[in-house]
Amino acid sequence: MDQFKGQPRLPKFAVPKRYDIRLKPDLVHCRFAGSIAIDLDIVAATSFIVLNAAELSVSDGSVSFTNRDSSKVLKPSRVELFQEDEILVLEFTETIPLGLGILFIQFEGTLNDRMKGFYRSTYEHNGEKKNMAVTQFEPADARRCFPCWDEPAFKATYKITLDVPSELIALSNMPIVEEKTDGNLKIVSFQESPIMSTYLVAVVVGLFDYVEDHTSDGVKVRVYCQVGKANQGKFALHVAARTLELYKDYFACPYPLPKLDMIAIPDFAAGAMENYGLVTYRETALLYDDQHSAAANKQRVATVVAHELAHQWFGNLVTMEWWTHLWLNEGFATWVSYLATDSLFPEWKIWSQFLDESTEGLRLDGLAESHPIEVEINHAAEIDEIFDAISYRKGASVIRMLQSYLGAECFQKSLASYIKKYAWTNAKTEDLWAALEEGSGEPVNKLMNSWTKQKGYPVVSVKVNNQKLEVQQSQFLSSGAHGEGHWIVPITLCSGSYDVHKNFLLQTKTESLDLKELLGSDVAQDRGVNSWIKLNVDQTGFYRVKYDEGLAARLRYAVEKQYLSATDRYGILDDLYALCMARHESLTSLLTLMGAYREELEYTVLSNLITISYKVTRIAADAVPELLDCIKQFFVNLLQYSAERLGWDPKPGESHLDAMLRGEVLTALAKFGHDLTLDEATRRFQAFLENRNTPLLPPDIRKATYVAVMWRAGKSNRLGYESLLKVYRETDLSQEKTRILSSLSSSPDPDLVFEVLNFMLSPEVRSQDAVFGLAVSQEGREIAWTWLKENWEKISKTYGSGFLITRFVSAVVSPFASFEKAKEVEEFFATHSTPAIARTLKQSLERVHINANWVHGVKGEKNLHEATKELANRKY
Ligand code: BES
Ligand code: ZN
Repeated sequence: MDQFKGQPRLPKFAVPKRYDIRLKPDLVHCRFAGSIAIDLDIVAATSFIVLNAAELSVSDGSVSFTNRDSSKVLKPSRVELFQEDEILVLEFTETIPLGLGILFIQFEGTLNDRMKGFYRSTYEHNGEKKNMAVTQFEPADARRCFPCWDEPAFKATYKITLDVPSELIALSNMPIVEEKTDGNLKIVSFQESPIMSTYLVAVVVGLFDYVEDHTSDGVKVRVYCQVGKANQGKFALHVAARTLELYKDYFACPYPLPKLDMIAIPDFAAGAMENYGLVTYRETALLYDDQHSAAANKQRVATVVAHELAHQWFGNLVTMEWWTHLWLNEGFATWVSYLATDSLFPEWKIWSQFLDESTEGLRLDGLAESHPIEVEINHAAEIDEIFDAISYRKGASVIRMLQSYLGAECFQKSLASYIKKYAWTNAKTEDLWAALEEGSGEPVNKLMNSWTKQKGYPVVSVKVNNQKLEVQQSQFLSSGAHGEGHWIVPITLCSGSYDVHKNFLLQTKTESLDLKELLGSDVAQDRGVNSWIKLNVDQTGFYRVKYDEGLAARLRYAVEKQYLSATDRYGILDDLYALCMARHESLTSLLTLMGAYREELEYTVLSNLITISYKVTRIAADAVPELLDCIKQFFVNLLQYSAERLGWDPKPGESHLDAMLRGEVLTALAKFGHDLTLDEATRRFQAFLENRNTPLLPPDIRKATYVAVMWRAGKSNRLGYESLLKVYRETDLSQEKTRILSSLSSSPDPDLVFEVLNFMLSPEVRSQDAVFGLAVSQEGREIAWTWLKENWEKISKTYGSGFLITRFVSAVVSPFASFEKAKEVEEFFATHSTPAIARTLKQSLERVHINANWVHGVKGEKNLHEATKELANRKY
C-alpha cells in the first residue's frame, strides 16, 4: 500500500464517470453523514483503488465494488486512509475486472469552522444564532466532504441528494428535480450535472431570501442572501444577467446550465468561488446597499461577479489539466472581467484601472523569490500559495499584452474556437497558444513561452545616441540586481501628439533604431515640446522602461503639460518608482517627477501616486527622519489641487471615479496629518454618530473619516476608537464593518494598535476579516511584530490550513527596512514556519532586504535635502 504514498497525482487505473452522492448535514451538532456510489471505469489491471479522502471516517464494512457485467461484488481486504497524503487506499484480494463498475462507500465527517471542505458559517435570524452548511472545494477540499478523484482532469457527472431540515433552503449546482418531506426532514434531489471537476461541486443549506431575473435566452438567475437583505442583491443580479448574455456572445457559446444561483456567505475565506451554477461570495463582494455602500464597493461587486461568471466558461466548461495551469483560469477570468465591466459601465474607465493589476503583478514578479506563471506543483498543500498576484495579475497582464499584439477581433475568434474545441474537457497552456497561433498566424507559443515559463520581466532601457534610439532589455529586479532572464518583448513606441507609432518585437538583447526613419526627420530634429518618446504605449506590455536623462526630462514636461494619456502618465510614474526602489534612480528624481502631477485629475493616476507617496513616506521615516515633515508637506501640497476640486460632499451628477477619488485623497491627507482634514473629519464623524443617515458622511468618505478619527486616537484618548467600535457593532452591513476594521490600525499609538490587533482575533471579528486589521501605521510596525509572535500559535491554528495565513506574514513582515530585523524574523520562523507560508515568508524577507538597501541608498543621496525643501515650499 505504501507505494501510493508521497505521490503528487493519483494513479490512473480507475476513472470516475458519475458520482451519486447523498449527504445529511446536522446543523446543530455540526456533523454530516454521507454515502456515495461512484461509477468507475477500471482501465488497467490492478487490485487497488486509490482515491482522495481527508478528515472523513470511512466505515470499513461499508465499502464495496460491483462489476457491472458480472454483477460480482468485491469487498476490500484492507481500507486505509493516509492522512498526510489525503488518500484512501482500497486493497482487494484479487484483480478487479476491467470495465465498468460501481464503488460504494459510507462515511462521516465534521462541518468544520475552517471555511474549507464542508463547513459551517454562522448567522443570526430573529435574534437567534444559527449555522448554515456550505462547501468550498477549490483547490483540493472536495475530499473533505466525500471520497473522490479530487483532481481537475477527472471530470464526471454528479447526482446529488440532500437530507435537510424541512424549513431550510438547499442549493446545489443544478436545479431541484424532486423534494419529499418526511416530518421535520426533507429529501432534496437535484438534477444530474453535466461533467465537471470535483472542485466545482457545491452545496449550501440554510435560511435565505432571494431576488430573481432571467437572461434574454431564459437562464434563471438568482441572488440569495441573508433574510432581510434581498434588496441588496439587486445590483449583482443585474450585472450577472447582463454578463451572461455578453459572455455568450464573446465566447460564441451559451451558458450551458439551466440556472445560475449566486449566494452571499457570511464566513468565506476567498472573495468568491465560481462553483458551476452555484457561485458563492463574501457578502462584501455580492451585496450592494444604495444608502451605505461606496462607489468602490459597487465596482468590487461588478468585477467579482464578472470574474466568477467568466469562469463558467473559462475554468468550468474548459478546465485546466493540472494546477500548473491555474493561471489559465485566474489570469484569464481577471482579464475578461474588465472586458465585461467596461461594456456594462463604460464611464468607470475600468481599463485604466487595469493598470493596478499589472502593477501588483510587476511588484511581486520583481522579486527573485517570484515564480513562473506555469509553476510545478508536487503536493496539494502547495496549490493554495499560487492563488497569488503572479497567477491572477501577471497572468491577466500577459493576456492583455498578447491581445493587444494580435488584435481584439482575431483574439476573440481564436478564443471562441479554443472554447469550442476543449468544451467539457481539460486544456493546457500550450493548447490556448495553439488556438491563438492558428487564428493569427503569429508564433504565439514561442512568444509567450518566455513570459509564462520563466519568472520575472524585463526593464527596457532606451537612450538616444547619434541619431539612433538604442533599446536594451535586461531582467528587472527590485533588489537592484540584474537577472539573467531574456524575453521576446512586444515593444510599442509613440511620439509627438501620438501621431507617430511604431511596433516591433525585441528578440535580442539590444536593438538600435534609426531615429529619422522611426519618427520622420521632423520629429527627430525637433527639440520642442512634442518631441517626447514613450515606450509601452498605454501600458499594455508587461515590462518597465528606463529612459535616458534627456528623454526622461521631455516626458516629465509632457506629463506636466498633460500631453500624455492617463495610462501613459501612470506608467511613467510607476516605472520611475520601481527604478527608484531598485536604486537605479534617485529619490530626488522620483519626487521631482511626482511634482509634475500637481494638476492631475485622473482617478487611477492619482490613486497610484498616493500609494507611492505612502511607501516613500515610510522609507523616508527610516532613512531621513529629519526630512519627514517636509516630505509630508510636499505630498499634502501636491494633493491640494484635487482636494479642492473634489471637496467633501458629492457633487450632483459627478462621476463614479471622482466619488472614489475623493475618498482616497482625503484618506491620504488624513494619513499625512493634515490638520484641516482631520478637523473636518472629526466634525462630520460627530454628526454621523448622532445620525447614521446624516448627509455629512456619505459612504465614499467614511474610510477617510475613520482613518482621521484613528489618527487622533490613542490609548489615553479612546473616545474616537470606542465610537468606531460602536458603529462596528451596530451595523449589519459587511462593507461598513470592513471599512472600520481597515481603519482601526492607523493610530500612531503603538499601545492602541496592539489593542486593535487583539480585537481582530476576538470572537467579535469573523476570522475571514481579521486580515483587514493588518494595515498598521508606521508607528505600530514594531508592536505588530511582537503581537504576531505572541499570537502565532493561535493564528496558525485558525488560519494554518488556508491561504489567509500568508497575509499575516506579508503584512507584518514586509514593512520592515533593516537587515537586523530580517534576521530576527528569519530566526523566529526557523522554528515556526510551515510549507503553506514558505514562499510568502521568503518573499517578505526579500522585501525587507530591498527596503533596507533602499533606506541605505536614500541616506547617502546628495541633494535630497535641498530638493525636498524646494519641492515642499512650492505653492501650487
Ligand atoms: N477561484 C477563485 C476562488 C479561490 C481563490 C479558490 C483561492 C480557492 C483559493 C475565484 O474565482 C477568485 O478568483 N476569487 C477572487 C476574486 C476575484 C474577483 C479576483 C478572490 O477570491 O479574491
Ligand atoms: Zn477566479
